Amino acid sequence: MSETDEVVRAQETADGEVLVVVDAVTKTFATLDGELPVLEGVSLDICAGEVVALLGKSGSGKSTLLRCIAGLLSPSTGTVTYRGEPLVGPNPGTAMVFQSFALLPWLTVLQNVELGLEAKGVERTVRRERAERAIDLIGLDGFESAYPKELSGGMRQRVGFARALVVEPEVLLMDEPFSALDVLTAENLRGELMELWESAEFPIKAIVLVTHNIEEAVLLADRVIILGSKPGRVRLELEIPLPRPRDRNTPAFQALIDHIYAVMTGRPVDESSGAAVAVPETPGSHPLPHASVDALSGLAEILEGLGATSIAETADELGFEVDDLLPLVDALEMLGFAEIDSGRLHLTDAGLTFAGADIQASKRIFARAVLDRAPLVRAIVAGLDRATDGSLRAGFFRDVLRRSFSEIEAERQLDTAIDWGRYAEQYAFDADHQEFVVDPDRTSVLGKEAIS
Ligand SMILES: Nc1ncnc2c1ncn2[C@@H]1O[C@H](COP(=O)(O)OP(=O)(O)OP(=O)(O)O)[C@@H](O)[C@H]1O
Ligand SMILES: [Mg+2]
Repeated sequence: MSETDEVVRAQETADGEVLVVVDAVTKTFATLDGELPVLEGVSLDICAGEVVALLGKSGSGKSTLLRCIAGLLSPSTGTVTYRGEPLVGPNPGTAMVFQSFALLPWLTVLQNVELGLEAKGVERTVRRERAERAIDLIGLDGFESAYPKELSGGMRQRVGFARALVVEPEVLLMDEPFSALDVLTAENLRGELMELWESAEFPIKAIVLVTHNIEEAVLLADRVIILGSKPGRVRLELEIPLPRPRDRNTPAFQALIDHIYAVMTGRPVDESSGAAVAVPETPGSHPLPHASVDALSGLAEILEGLGATSIAETADELGFEVDDLLPLVDALEMLGFAEIDSGRLHLTDAGLTFAGADIQASKRIFARAVLDRAPLVRAIVAGLDRATDGSLRAGFFRDVLRRSFSEIEAERQLDTAIDWGRYAEQYAFDADHQEFVVDPDRTSVLGKEAIS
């Protein structure tokens, strides 16, 4: 950013001015199975001049919080204010960019962009002029008369951006705006957005970005707010003091990633005392990470070779995105095979034995670990123990899981439990009949002492 740009931004936006205040917001959804608490006591401010990232795992309530800020949802308790005024209905100072673009296929680019202004009753010529300005700004000129289906994903999301910018909001809200794009397109759009943000002509005063991608948060945000799950609470707020444009390959960048990883993968922490709190061990409160046995065994073997390492280094070494490793690291931690100490990931004694074992021994160790530490696998085994004919309908678990998870997440939980339980030779799964069936080798895997 040039010196003149800096002066203009400071004059126009009065950096630091509080725009949005979220105060003690709780959100509970009424579902068929009762109340689902999603957010609990969330408080935060959004100030002029800053990019804030809301980071959290799937289901932690990020989109819910963003919709509360946008005034599209009202909190169960607590308030959201914009420039001191409590919201009643949509927040007049915000506009939203969605992951799915949400374009109307029968309208051209220009018409899609104008749509928000039409709803506001803006006069036709002004509408056109402002839409053209937004289209220009975001690099869509030349595409005005194209229909969404003629555009690439990146161009479609530019329309999504233009449609939000055209209403000239003070605060731009973005819900995973890059996650439906391929890696290079996403990287390109991120870069362009940041260039705009740094430039004087960009009318937006603050950005709130929802993401589950740690690198993206550290790359773009001035402040990262990490939401813990079930219910979503602010687990950590972290300033990102790095100059822009940011370089992923600096030690400072990697250290921030590792720190955030440690917070996200660590056990739930009681904020007041800093002590770990006991987690009730039910399948609903203790979801299985989305990790196949093959993948987590592979990572264990790699870690055996690497020794204690940071997650960023491990990802780098393997040529992965750090975020791809998160569920695998979660799984190793859940099973007691790995630990994270101040950002360093290492195998435990059990993990070392598991990584070095031959296939039969590895199955035995894995079986013990899942029965001790994976509540859903344990629940399926316990259910089968009580089933008179040695089989159990998956629908039963599906129903129970839907009390705590979305339909898609419930299905993923079952898929993971099927994979883990099969490898541990606890049960088989009959996909045609959607039934769990006792594995005949169950006792021999563990030895008779373990099943009691
Ligand atoms: N309208 C609703 N009614 C009932 N439950 C809901 C509703 N909206 C969201 N939920 C539930 O609230 C929880 C949090 O959802 P939310 O979409 O806010 O999470 P998220 O952090 O954005 O997740 P993701 O990363 O998957 O987008 C989920 O369990 C979801 O199923
Ligand atoms: Mg979401």
